[in-house]
Amino acid sequence: MHFFSETLNLPDSAFKLLRDLIHQRTGIFFEPGKKELLADKLSPLVIERGFASFMDLYYLLKYDNNEADWRQMIDALSVQETYFWREFDQVQALVDEVVPQWASMHPRQTLRIWSAACASGEEPLSIALALNEARWLERLPIEIIASDASQKALTKARQGVYGGRSFRSLPPKLKEKYFTAVPGSNGRQWRIDEKIHGRIRWQLANLVDEADVAELAAPVIFCRNVFIYFSPESVQNTVQRFFARMPTPGYLFIGASESLFRLTTDFALREIGGAFVYVKS
Ligand SMILES: C[S@@+](CC[C@H](N)C(=O)[O-])C[C@H]1O[C@@H](n2cnc3c(N)ncnc32)[C@H](O)[C@@H]1O
Repeated sequence: MHFFSETLNLPDSAFKLLRDLIHQRTGIFFEPGKKELLADKLSPLVIERGFASFMDLYYLLKYDNNEADWRQMIDALSVQETYFWREFDQVQALVDEVVPQWASMHPRQTLRIWSAACASGEEPLSIALALNEARWLERLPIEIIASDASQKALTKARQGVYGGRSFRSLPPKLKEKYFTAVPGSNGRQWRIDEKIHGRIRWQLANLVDEADVAELAAPVIFCRNVFIYFSPESVQNTVQRFFARMPTPGYLFIGASESLFRLTTDFALREIGGAFVYVKS
């Protein structure tokens, strides 16, 4: 939610320039029908800076190319909708099939699991909770990395405090077991158990940045509900970067409404434990 409600006029020419710059830098693509949405998201930035038009914002981003300005842009553009136990069949497949298989092949090697667009953290925390429930966190060295391109999302994730909507799918007994009400919030906010939260390494990373992917790549990657905002070209490039950096076997989980169907990738689509997974084998 932003303070300014005014949406400024975004001429087609400025829309195309900004859209292409944003696409190049973040992978996020605004179709022509999303011009108003982009104007709505970026108007507060134009107004706050006292700019005369969207072109001033474009020049700032293109020619100053400053990290702090881009962070503010990504915060404004990013959609951070997420919740615990979202599309849980995939997490279940990880816990019941992928981890046991890995453990039998590499009993002493650390298994890295990367949640590559973690938003406010409910996805990696769901993974950690499910692994803990199945006692994998005590049986196998497991490293969980959670990253996002939005600093605002990561700040919230690092706090580990959640409101009602985050719990819409989490079984109540797990909420009781792993969360405590935040004093003074009248039961509206809950803090995750530090033992679970502390298992996760939070990091800023952009999926279109080759160096970020190279640093964090893992045999298990959850990259869910971010490709819906990307162009097919950005999805293709990101998936190929994952493939190139992942060890074999490697498992890529994408969102239920996302598909690599029309793209050329080296991954094979497999059904594992009732969930669809892209496998590098
Ligand atoms: C809808 S959330 C998905 C959260 C979680 N994975 C889930 O499925 O519930 C999308 C997230 O993708 C992030 N994002 C968008 N573009 C990104 C990029 N280029 N690199 C990394 N994260 C990005 C956004 O900041 C946002 O937090």
